[in-house]
Amino acid sequence: MAKLLLGVSGGIAAFKALEFVRLATERGHAVRVIQTHSSKRFVGTASFAALTGAPVLSGEFERDPLRGSFPGEPLGEHDPASHLALVGAADVFVIAPASANTIAKLANGLADNLLTNAALAARCPLIVAPAMNHRMFEHPATQANIALLRERGVTIIEPGTGRLATPGEHGIGRLAEPAELLAACEVALAPNSSWRGRGVLVTAGGTREPIDAVRHIANRSSGRMGFAIAEAALGRGAEVVVIAANVSLQRDPRIRYIDVESTEQLATACAAEAETADVLVMCAAVADLRPAAELNGKLSRGATDRLTLELEATPDILAGLAAARRNGQKLVGFAAEHGAQGIERAREKLQGKQVDMIVYNDISSEGIGFDSPDNEVTLITAKGEQHLPRAPKSTIAMQLIEAIEALQP
Ligand SMILES: Cc1cc2nc3c(=O)[nH]c(=O)nc-3n(C[C@H](O)[C@H](O)[C@H](O)COP(=O)(O)O)c2cc1C
Repeated sequence: MAKLLLGVSGGIAAFKALEFVRLATERGHAVRVIQTHSSKRFVGTASFAALTGAPVLSGEFERDPLRGSFPGEPLGEHDPASHLALVGAADVFVIAPASANTIAKLANGLADNLLTNAALAARCPLIVAPAMNHRMFEHPATQANIALLRERGVTIIEPGTGRLATPGEHGIGRLAEPAELLAACEVALAPNSSWRGRGVLVTAGGTREPIDAVRHIANRSSGRMGFAIAEAALGRGAEVVVIAANVSLQRDPRIRYIDVESTEQLATACAAEAETADVLVMCAAVADLRPAAELNGKLSRGATDRLTLELEATPDILAGLAAARRNGQKLVGFAAEHGAQGIERAREKLQGKQVDMIVYNDISSEGIGFDSPDNEVTLITAKGEQHLPRAPKSTIAMQLIEAIEALQP
């Protein structure tokens, strides 16, 4: 995983940088933080130090107790000048939030604190995420500074529009969301990624099969695993489409989402989207059976004491996609199985469905799988099996994307 150097300057949005650190470390990245002096008026160093597991630096004359190393690395043998060592070791330097003042310094090459020194010495990709009041952002000086940085190859993460920190003010200037900042770092980390521009189709969530006008048969899938896979693929530069079956999670504006409810709708959407996708990851929990006929209206309590529902098989989406597969298109299926024989059934699914990989998870284990933040899976391919121990779904998703990349075309 990568070494991310985060520069935090003085603005209300500095609190969002904490969430960025939490997300980045959860993904397995090592993070060090440089704070400007004024940023400490907004968020203290203790929070960043606790989340990164490393001291925070601010001044160019400060010594770095970690001697320029990142968490997880051995301590450097000598005691370097920190403004060069930290940024020299970083894979990417992201400044978020970037204040109008810091942006002006970066544009003019000033180096009066550790953050601005590090920016001048950076040879890794530099990402700048402005955040400020809309009048400050729209000022020609700020706009000219941003344009200059962009011309020099700095990646600017545009601020969002909405309610601003000053009561009653509305406009452009909100810091981009932490997940967007992290995705930008991951794109910068993998400029030649084999995922760049590749079409990835992910299904997420769980289908619902109507019984009557208000009731349905459903499952407990939240869509978290599928959304995490989609975000991991996006981070590698892929063009991602998610077919979401009844998912109410936050969405990434750079992903195209198609909402469906039933297995029938999911199958139709998959067939259409699969035509242009290079990689298909079928993560949604699909109902195997559905009521043979939907009852008209709402069945009322008094109507009957007992009701027998006749169920019929739903379309086998995975088999359908395998049959229509284009040359080189990769197909990954999920098998959520219960109990001791589960892995055997997952192995059979690899053969029976003609897919490249089955992601097996044992949903009888406590605290993993459906509707939980963690997962633990075994990746089954024709070449062998790889166990991914329990970890947040975002980490499992990154590992899965790497394993898909390793599949032979
Ligand atoms: C309450 C408060 C909020 C501020 N919010 C911002 C902000 O969101 N963006 C910004 O560019 N400056 C903001 N400022 C002004 C900066 O803190 C100020 O320009 C400072 O010198 C920036 O220093 P730095 O770039 O070294 O961190 C704010 C100031 C105060 C007092």
